[in-house]
Amino acid sequence: MQSSFAIAVKRHLRTWWLGSDLRCFEVVDSTNRVARDAARSGAAEGTVVIADAQTRGRGRLGREWVSPPQRNLYVSVVLRPDLDADRLSLLSIMAGVAACDAVREWDPRALLKWPNDVLVEDRKIAGILTEAEQSERGKWSVILGIGVNLNSCEGDFPPELRGKAASLRMSTGEIIDRARFAACLLQRLELEYDRLRREGGAATRAAWWERSMVAGRSLTVAGLAGTLTGKALGLDEDGALRLQLDGGAERRVLAGDVTVVGIV
Ligand code: BTN
Repeated sequence: MQSSFAIAVKRHLRTWWLGSDLRCFEVVDSTNRVARDAARSGAAEGTVVIADAQTRGRGRLGREWVSPPQRNLYVSVVLRPDLDADRLSLLSIMAGVAACDAVREWDPRALLKWPNDVLVEDRKIAGILTEAEQSERGKWSVILGIGVNLNSCEGDFPPELRGKAASLRMSTGEIIDRARFAACLLQRLELEYDRLRREGGAATRAAWWERSMVAGRSLTVAGLAGTLTGKALGLDEDGALRLQLDGGAERRVLAGDVTVVGIV
């Protein structure tokens, strides 16, 4: 039987193909794990997994994604892109654009921080974890996991995230309808993914850059190999961040934690 949440999402959903197979759960460990298992069992492109709560929500760089029940959106989407391995990170950039535009329907101040964090007034509202796997026949399946803080209150965040993370409810003062937001996000994702397939990466990278808070700014990037400081120049064809180091040399950044200098 369908949950009332699934029925509400479907009532709002205006997509052509994304979310035709919509699987809603009360609690899972991680929607990315559930979507990965579904993909391995043959779930079609566009299959969507949503949970009211996660007990082991996963974030980027091995972090935890705080996932209290009934407040926020925890969603994972199965994609089966026809992309070369070195272009897969464009999916993450594409999902950032979609998430930013969905958040902007409630709070137009939303901006992107590389690679795909959505921030409002320098606090993180949404994050994306992209996990790719190649089948024996060489086809990619990609799980796009998106967490959006919709109705969390300050006290829902652990002390180390207070002041750094926020929810749409905190930024707008309104209670956010989870089902309506989920439908809006899925629609934005379908639009951006179809655009990436139709027009290639240039349009996606341009859309990301337009919404970016890092464009032309001084950044520090903490990665596995240490910390770099420099000015953001743009995105490379594969979605890597191009940085002009303080000494003048250019570097490509493929992973790391970005801080905009001047914003604590
Ligand atoms: C980040 O660290 O910014 C990425 C956070 C991604 C969280 C989402 S919530 C839905 C999906 N399931 C997970 O376990 N993680 C992603």
